Amino acid sequence: MAFETITVEVDDHVSLIKLSRPEALNALNSELLGELCQALKEADDNDKVRCVVITGSEKAFAAGADIKEMSEKSFVDVFTENLFAEAIDSIAGTRKPVIAAVSGYALGGGCELAMACDFIIAAETAKFGQPEINLGVIAGMGGTQRLTRAIGKAKAMDMNLTGRFMDAEEAERAGLVSRVVPAKKLMEEAMGAATKIAEKSMPSVLAAKESVNRAFETTLSEGMLFERRVFHSMFATEDQKEGMGAFLEKRQPQFRDK
Ligand code: HXC
Repeated sequence: MAFETITVEVDDHVSLIKLSRPEALNALNSELLGELCQALKEADDNDKVRCVVITGSEKAFAAGADIKEMSEKSFVDVFTENLFAEAIDSIAGTRKPVIAAVSGYALGGGCELAMACDFIIAAETAKFGQPEINLGVIAGMGGTQRLTRAIGKAKAMDMNLTGRFMDAEEAERAGLVSRVVPAKKLMEEAMGAATKIAEKSMPSVLAAKESVNRAFETTLSEGMLFERRVFHSMFATEDQKEGMGAFLEKRQPQFRDK
């Protein structure tokens, strides 16, 4: 399917989705979020795809939800349409791994979109922020929730109350991003990580993602039980025999997703 506000390339088992509204620093409007959800669903449905990378431009991953589109809306409008709620839940609900490769601004909804991905690889130029407070509103797609879980109350409060931006180095220190690389190396690093994931056994990749995500939804003892049961269930796969057998035979495993 042809998209207007994103591009999608599937190469060697990795679906690379680029946000593409350069005139508005990739601000997230209904059309873009609709297309992004569609592309992620297609990635989930396409057996060839084993990992997804979402990126933006050098200057902006995404500078937030589209302020022009939102500015005239009333309370009743955003309440009844439940603005972007379905989109962010659907993005976070993608079953296959999704990496955010962030260069430049990841602000407001852009930061929230990056946080809805499984992990963030940042260029040294990346800037994260929840500046909605400057617009007389608050974050609405996870900026008070996922950010607080990622970096703790002190920094999340600071970001949400002052609207200040956090650079890549601080974001890595705070635990918001997993890696920081020079801007020139961003896509190589993100595609390299995606390719590594694509080489694993898909059942264990899906199970690992579900299990880590469980940590955000439940108590430690329930989460431990969930992990233990999923771990046990992996022994029903042929890939467990292959993975452990290959280690003992000192060779590379040939996973078959079975
Ligand atoms: C619509 C935007 C935009 C946005 C930038 N643009 N951000 N349009 N929505 N969020 C547009 C500008 O209007 C401008 O268009 C063009 O992109 C370039 O932006 P400039 O401001 O000229 O660039 P620069 O001076 O380099 O400043 C970059 C910036 C600034 C610091 C990122 O653009 C900025 O502060 N943007 C808004 C960030 C923000 O507040 N985000 C949170 C949005 S609310 P023209 O036509 O003038 O060239 C949100 C809520 C989510 O995300 C929850 C929803 C449920």
